[in-house]
Amino acid sequence: MQLDHAARSFRYYRNAVERHWDPHDIDLAGDLAAVADLDDDALFGLKQTLARFGAGEQAVTEDLTPLAVVLDDVEDQLFVTTQVYEEAKHTVFFDRYWDEVINAEEERRGQERSSPTEDRWFNEGYLELFDRNEAVMNRLLDDDTPVNRAVAYCHYHLTIEGILAQTGYYGLTRSYDGETYPEIPVLSGLIEGLTKIRGDEGRHVGFGMAKLKELVASDAVDTDLLRTTIDELLPLVQATIPERDEDGPGPSPTELVGYATEKHGQRMNQITTGSEDIPSVEELTSID
Ligand SMILES: [Fe+2]
Ligand SMILES: [Fe+2]
Repeated sequence: MQLDHAARSFRYYRNAVERHWDPHDIDLAGDLAAVADLDDDALFGLKQTLARFGAGEQAVTEDLTPLAVVLDDVEDQLFVTTQVYEEAKHTVFFDRYWDEVINAEEERRGQERSSPTEDRWFNEGYLELFDRNEAVMNRLLDDDTPVNRAVAYCHYHLTIEGILAQTGYYGLTRSYDGETYPEIPVLSGLIEGLTKIRGDEGRHVGFGMAKLKELVASDAVDTDLLRTTIDELLPLVQATIPERDEDGPGPSPTELVGYATEKHGQRMNQITTGSEDIPSVEELTSID
């Protein structure tokens, strides 16, 4: 066996090993002190966003494995093992945050301990988006065709990771990093965890985009398929952006929908324009 060290998947695999991090190393003590300054509405909004992130990470951990079964190249398989492991770590980070920050703060306020799995955090658009993702990923096990692979990458890597999650990091980071909204308490452990997660997601999105670009370049799929697939999913992404006041603290729903739309345009352009390169891992996850 001779591994191709120059292959994108192998380089992403190595990058993942070199940038390994442990969700249990992040200090959350400062966050626990800071959330005491959030009023009940703001704490509710934070919980809703964290619950959606956590459930999303858990769903993508479970739903990636069909790709590990169908991919042929060993370099791709090496990469996918790192992705499954990283999605598992992301799931654990949000679970730990709920336990050590959210539940601890609820106890301090004399409130009942909530769970991130309660139905009240999710809406129909969110559930539909992840149900569809699970279905198109599982379909690869029975019917592994170029078109079905393209649809799977469009759902998983491009829409959920490349647009939805990216918009979520943007909203959370802008809200709680202390720079844009100095009146909102700084959640430094959350920001540190999100920064690590974003670094991982840059590789995941880069992998999916590169696979889509290959499929388009080889004429195995038409760019119209990518456009229609993502256009059908975008309303579900928009429905997932938390409902709240336009002029409350933090980025408004309109700003977040605008951000998601802009990300969508950039990703499509990078895939469908032959002369455009897939951006570096850092660029793929930069907030601005
Ligand atoms: Fe993730
Ligand atoms: Fe990911």
